[in-house]
Amino acid sequence: MIVLKLGGSVVTEKDREETVDGAALDRAAEAIAAAREDDAVDDVVVVHGGGSFGHPHAETWGASTTTGVHDVDGVTAIHGAMTTLNKFVLRALHDADVPAVPVHPLSAAHRDRDGDLTLPSGQVATLLAEGFVPVLHGDLVAHEGEGATVLSGDEIVTSLADSLDADRVGVCSTVPGVLDADDAVVDEIRSFDDVESVLGGSEATDVSGGMAGKVRELLALGAPANIFDLDALPAFLGGDEPGTTVHGDR
Ligand code: IPE
Repeated sequence: MIVLKLGGSVVTEKDREETVDGAALDRAAEAIAAAREDDAVDDVVVVHGGGSFGHPHAETWGASTTTGVHDVDGVTAIHGAMTTLNKFVLRALHDADVPAVPVHPLSAAHRDRDGDLTLPSGQVATLLAEGFVPVLHGDLVAHEGEGATVLSGDEIVTSLADSLDADRVGVCSTVPGVLDADDAVVDEIRSFDDVESVLGGSEATDVSGGMAGKVRELLALGAPANIFDLDALPAFLGGDEPGTTVHGDR
């Protein structure tokens, strides 16, 4: 089973608020459809990020993964932007004949006072077993003592990869992998020390940590993860290990 994250900056135009990158989204949907038709991929769970839908609203309301929002208008704006994007993602997958079904994390997950996440996965496992492709997304999540905080797609990927015992994890990004100081793709990462000196923050608004955050999350996994761009998505789904391979350090 594969957990595939489609980065928000891949499926949206990150610098134009609430704008989908339709061409990129269609390419991703077609790659998933083709891999399923070729039987290269058995079960796949899709998780998409926020891009120009989630992040600007989260910033407006001062919400992050640790600082919450209590105002219902803020919850409505941030979650609403994400469910709108989710509808676009579903439509692209349906147009490519992928049996995609939405799963909204706000309705299922919560964080305790320490920020530890509980994300049930029984519904995702059952949807998979019944032949569907569950599609989750970065969202807000109820957070004890904070109201609702941002839940990044990367956290969802990590949580589901563990609870569903994923074989492989893919993070489809706008860059071909983690880049070193000379902009060459780093083939392998086994510990954060390997890349600490080259990982800066994300340039556009990103309330959930950019590439450094992604690598930290992926290092905490049991399954190998690949970070690659849209050009390499068909290769990843076909069984290759494009871009940067992050070997979980546990
Ligand atoms: C962010 O999800 C969700 C919200 C801002 C509500 P991600 O952090 O996974 O989004 P991208 O992939 O970086 O855009």
